[in-house]
Amino acid sequence: MKVLIVGANGKVGTLLCGQMWAANGFSPIALIREARQQTKFTALGVPSAVGGLEKGLVEFLPGLDAVVFTAGSGARTGPGKTIDVDQNAAIRLMDDCSQSSVRRFIMISAIGSDPLSDSPRIQNYLRAKGVADERLRSSGLDYTILAPGTLSNEPGSGKIQAAESLGCHGTLPREDLSRCVIEVLRNYNSVGKTIQIISGQESIKSAIADAAGGAALPPIL
Ligand SMILES: NC(=O)c1ccc[n+]([C@@H]2O[C@H](COP(=O)([O-])OP(=O)(O)OC[C@H]3O[C@@H](n4cnc5c(N)ncnc54)[C@H](OP(=O)(O)O)[C@@H]3O)[C@@H](O)[C@H]2O)c1
Repeated sequence: MKVLIVGANGKVGTLLCGQMWAANGFSPIALIREARQQTKFTALGVPSAVGGLEKGLVEFLPGLDAVVFTAGSGARTGPGKTIDVDQNAAIRLMDDCSQSSVRRFIMISAIGSDPLSDSPRIQNYLRAKGVADERLRSSGLDYTILAPGTLSNEPGSGKIQAAESLGCHGTLPREDLSRCVIEVLRNYNSVGKTIQIISGQESIKSAIADAAGGAALPPIL
């Protein structure tokens, strides 16, 4: 499965590239913003391509089986940049995938993402993510939205709690989130699903299968 990882130079993106390269059946391509970021991916053995999300990525899409959106403007940029990247650039990428017949789209969202979020702390971010998620749900693409709790850089445990609506918040190591991305790509039952994830007691494979409503159904390529 040829997968473009958008936001590959980020913390989740980098872990995902390495894990996907080592996993059977995947051929990741790291989408990065600057040529100097290529060194890390060359060392990992992962091919990379330089492109800007806001300029459009349509030239990179032909021949892909899936796209993973794990980019984010980050907490240090202003609210306008969050709308530009987390919302509008994500939506543009969905439209480009539809036009280019790349059907499978994995979105890294967040617990609490909602176009009407009234979060006192990160309302702008959760609204931007929520608008992008809503658009993805009506896009006609074979999407899966993964909505983690607060991400940490702790080593992954391989054990999670996952459900369409967990009813609670929590944390999740980035290493486990990237493993979840690979698992949903392996399980076609996850298409059309939004899955909230925090650390828990169940293996990733089993928790994703439960949340997706069925054991691993191989992807259609
Ligand atoms: N932090 C949390 O607790 C949390 C919780 C839930 C969900 N999330 C979501 O999880 C995802 C991954 O998080 P992370 O910790 O891996 O984030 P990260 O380390 O900040 O990585 C974000 C990546 O997005 C890239 N990016 C930013 N603007 C871009 C643009 N205009 N065009 C192309 N790429 C752009 C950055 O590129 P450069 O490296 O070139 O700057 C960076 O590689 C994000 O979508 C985030 O919103 C985070």
